[in-house]
Amino acid sequence: MTTPQHIMAVASGYGLSRALLSAVDLGLFSRLAAGPMTASEICAEYGLLARPGTDFLDLLVSAELLARQGDGEDARYLNTPETAAFLDRTQPEYIGGIIELWAKRNFGFWNTLTEAMQTGRAQNETKDGGTPFFETLYADPARLEAFMDAMTGSSIRNFRALAESFPFSRYHSLVDIGGADGLLAREVAVRHEGLSITTLDLPEVTEIAARKIAEAGLSDRITAQSGDFFAEPLPKADVITMGMILHDWNLERKQALVRKAYDALPEGGAFIVIEALIDDARRENTFGLFLSLNMLIEFGDAFDYTGAEFISWCREAGFRRFEILSLDGPSSAAIAYK
Ligand SMILES: C[S@@+](CC[C@H](N)C(=O)[O-])C[C@H]1O[C@@H](n2cnc3c(N)ncnc32)[C@H](O)[C@@H]1O
Repeated sequence: MTTPQHIMAVASGYGLSRALLSAVDLGLFSRLAAGPMTASEICAEYGLLARPGTDFLDLLVSAELLARQGDGEDARYLNTPETAAFLDRTQPEYIGGIIELWAKRNFGFWNTLTEAMQTGRAQNETKDGGTPFFETLYADPARLEAFMDAMTGSSIRNFRALAESFPFSRYHSLVDIGGADGLLAREVAVRHEGLSITTLDLPEVTEIAARKIAEAGLSDRITAQSGDFFAEPLPKADVITMGMILHDWNLERKQALVRKAYDALPEGGAFIVIEALIDDARRENTFGLFLSLNMLIEFGDAFDYTGAEFISWCREAGFRRFEILSLDGPSSAAIAYK
């Protein structure tokens, strides 16, 4: 039977989404890691009024984003296995960093999605003459560090899957372009001992990478190199990786980076991008399509892309053989061989 349930679930989904973003932003799941709490304890902790506070908690329970022991006033709320693993700030696979950013910034910016689609203009701080987020980011060490942690949360499972499934040991050298705090380099280094590895990013970021590489005891295996991937040629290596880099830019800049990767590789070298690649028929990867519109909201002309699009840009640059590897959830690695 045809019913409107699916339509209404999606249409009202912004409320559930906002409730989850607020819960992460408040730090609720990290707090519950210490043990179950009643609604009145949670409301007292965060200054919530009793009725809306309880509705908020039970909305999350109804969506299986919180668990609850018992009913009524004495009921106690606790994490589900997923929220305990991924939304407690003390856990290594915490994904809340990016959700905190969505809570503070993107949720509001999406309110003018229709305008963004009509004008092709970013809807973030820059719309009202504010300083671009990324400019303020590099000037503020605490925010930059928080952004790096957010990237780590969204990328760690993909980088682990790639380090385990791609045969890096067949090659001698790897350069990770836009490597942020060196996460991909570190994940590959601990699994493939013979490889010489460089992680390249802007100078403010390279300092953080060098520190994290030293903390992991990998300073003799990984070089943290400062550079601007548009201003300079890429360092030469057998394998070049770019995690969530091409999706930040417009078509012209994407193609320029693909050509630079080609120039930096030897014959037989591999260029690997890690993204939430949209499926070629553009029917299935809801998260990839969401991210693409999020790039519109943040940058105006940036967008996510399909494996087929990546292959066509790479073929134009001279690459000859291609492969797509599924990684975690909606993400994939697309590989072009020179
Ligand atoms: C979206 S983050 C991706 C981080 C990481 N590769 C990952 O997938 O988790 C983009 C990275 O590109 C870096 N970046 C931006 N413009 C750059 C440039 N012109 N040269 C070098 N790095 C740049 C940023 O500093 C940031 O670390």
